[in-house]
Amino acid sequence: MKTVSRRRFLKKAGQSGLALAAGSALGRFGLAQSAPRTTRVTIDSGRQIAPIDHHLFGSFLEHLGRAIYEGIYDPKSKFADSNGFRTDVIKEVHDLGVPIVRYPGGNFVSGYHWLDGVGPKKDRPTVLDRAWNTLEPNQFGTNEFIAWTRAVGTEPLFGLNFGTASAEDAAALVEYCNVAGGTKWSNLRRSHGYEQPHNVKYWCVGNEMDGTWQIGHMEDRDYGIKASDAARQMRVIDPTIKLIACGSSGPFQPTYIEWDRTVLEECYDVVDGISLHRYFGNTEENGNDSSKYLAMNLGMDRQIEEIAAVCDTVRAHKRSNKQLFLSFDEWNVWYRARGGDFADGHGKLAPHLLEEPYNLEDAVLVGGLANSLIRHSDRVKVACLAQLVNVIAPIATNEDGILRHTIFYPYAWALKYAHGRALSVAPEGPSYQVASLGQPIESGGLSIPGFGDVQYLDVVVVHDEEKSTVTLLAMNRDLQNEQELEINWHDLTPSKVLAFETITGPDLKAGNTLADPKRVTPQTLENPAVGSRMTVKLPARSYSVLSLAV
Ligand code: AHR
Repeated sequence: MKTVSRRRFLKKAGQSGLALAAGSALGRFGLAQSAPRTTRVTIDSGRQIAPIDHHLFGSFLEHLGRAIYEGIYDPKSKFADSNGFRTDVIKEVHDLGVPIVRYPGGNFVSGYHWLDGVGPKKDRPTVLDRAWNTLEPNQFGTNEFIAWTRAVGTEPLFGLNFGTASAEDAAALVEYCNVAGGTKWSNLRRSHGYEQPHNVKYWCVGNEMDGTWQIGHMEDRDYGIKASDAARQMRVIDPTIKLIACGSSGPFQPTYIEWDRTVLEECYDVVDGISLHRYFGNTEENGNDSSKYLAMNLGMDRQIEEIAAVCDTVRAHKRSNKQLFLSFDEWNVWYRARGGDFADGHGKLAPHLLEEPYNLEDAVLVGGLANSLIRHSDRVKVACLAQLVNVIAPIATNEDGILRHTIFYPYAWALKYAHGRALSVAPEGPSYQVASLGQPIESGGLSIPGFGDVQYLDVVVVHDEEKSTVTLLAMNRDLQNEQELEINWHDLTPSKVLAFETITGPDLKAGNTLADPKRVTPQTLENPAVGSRMTVKLPARSYSVLSLAV
């Protein structure tokens, strides 16, 4: 077989529409790998993107499937404490260091009456949740969630019902949680045994109200007016709260952008941020193409930039001094356990819903998504991996313990290392073509434009001045070959490698199961020589972390 250079092969393949398969074709046909495989970054501590907000890698727990019941709350479990909380889950989430957890939904919140979930447990009604057709016994509610967040060492991000409840109901919950006493709702809390206010700071003003699937779905203008009314009432009760308006559910929505603009025209002045949601998948419609799939975090970059642009356009129209932050409060891979019986509880308690199994390529993409959040840390101040336990989650439970899915590991690295400031590094290196993401990559229906030239390496750099460390987090999208990363240090001197680990493997579809829980776990890589110019090798189809003392 004639030997061609990789770059020429890619160019030809691109012209004939084969570009997306080029990486795998090279490996399969044993073509020469002569093109440069080195990506270069320069680390300059002066080139800061922004301080990374403490809330950037939060998570989410919804009354859905086995997230709450059998997930974090299970009085019958051998792991249960006196509150009925699973202590093994508490330890796992505590050790991860999740900074903020969104609760109680999601779609669930749009039909949820918070008063059903407070007061003596024996008096709480069992109701049918119509979002997921599930029996809701209300044995876990607002106060239990606050107690759980304290046990775990995290902060609550409360969702408000904008589907079947009023602005007054939303304000009442703020009063119940945040007023010390002497008013109707704060006194009710005290009568329930909680003397001190919960002081909940972050609130989501509704959930996915642009979606026709949402209980109480609304038109953009109507939602904006209601959000504005509710926000004003809530701010009278507690002026220190942070309010997050409900933005588009994602780019697949026909009203994407238009919804956000109209909503913000109504409520810009009284909210602090706007929400973004997005789920990704290596679907059949996408041709089950892993090269494309691993480029999808660039769709998250684009979504962040588009929604920030809408916020700033409305700001300019209003001549406002205030800039809104973005709250990417639902993001993850989710495409297998979707729809049908995966989303229908058939009126049962704690059904197995949305129990997505995760594999290696999902973990690599989740790493890439973490990178997208880090490089937009100037604008994204809150984000939540959706979700945390059992439901599209890094952690699964059964009666005997816990399973870490593959996506647990990149999430854990983001939590451990994304502290300090994100640095702008402008990587330059070899790339491949992702011409078009074609037909629906998510549940929607609109095609998403392609990304063109996609670099094999997706690299972000975090400088933690307090700890005197610099950490690089890198995804290698090359399915066949390792890639080299050349690191040039401009003003910092690396002294020692603190950690160099990767998640990779021979099988992109391999995942962890209760029977085989350690099939895909991080591996330690050989430490590179440290110097002002250093080179590391990143395995094919991997997500890696390299942390250095400086
Ligand atoms: O996280 C699962 C669901 O996805 C949430 O309930 C909803 O907000 C989104 O559509």
